[in-house]
Amino acid sequence: MPDLKHHPVVADRLAKLRALDCPSHEFRRHVADIARLLVLPATATLETEAVPVTTPLTQMTGQKIARPIVLVPILRAGLGMSDAFHQLLPEASLSHYGVARNEKTLEPEVYFEKFPSDFGEAEVIVLDPMLATGGSAAAALRGLKKSGARHLHFVCLVASPEGIHCLKDQHPEVPVTCAAIDEGLNENGYIVPGLGDAGDRIFGT
Ligand code: PRP
Ligand code: URA
Repeated sequence: MPDLKHHPVVADRLAKLRALDCPSHEFRRHVADIARLLVLPATATLETEAVPVTTPLTQMTGQKIARPIVLVPILRAGLGMSDAFHQLLPEASLSHYGVARNEKTLEPEVYFEKFPSDFGEAEVIVLDPMLATGGSAAAALRGLKKSGARHLHFVCLVASPEGIHCLKDQHPEVPVTCAAIDEGLNENGYIVPGLGDAGDRIFGT
């Protein structure tokens, strides 16, 4: 799994994003910038198929992405990443998965699911900036599998080792792409050094 935090552009945006005094409008822009930079590694293993192309000069064989793509931002904070992915993958459809972490128990509580009925063939790319205990992402992947998704990917900005371990344990076949793997979780289940509550900082709540 690539950890891109030493890439100069990613490192620059991450440092700005993490800062306590980064205002909400700049926070949203940095989230979107890093998400855009993650599109390439997150899609590097998508299957392609040969397609004939006629250029102005000759004929050649090009490649196209073989399967339809469905982007699934986990509400709310995943919405901060979905426009960036949609801009580079405009043919993708967008579904939403609502999970909120109960701040006392740290257990995920699912409150919204809306998927296309036939996405078994699709590449399903799940987006959430934060992978902390891993409970929310694991619940979303479980729900998506129940609804028939078979080609799943998970993309986040900041992960904890605990969250990565949780996904590797519960969904070992799902590739995980993240911009940074941080030190760990504090006693309240927050990623350290992290960036605080991503949803609150994106939406100014
Ligand atoms: C945050 C974050 C993840 C989850 C990560 O969402 O966006 O979904 O917590 O924590 P976990 O890995 O321990 O489950 P939150 O529940 O705060 O909801 P929000 O996006 O609506 O703020
Ligand atoms: N959710 C967040 O938004 N941030 C964390 O550090 C952990 C869970």
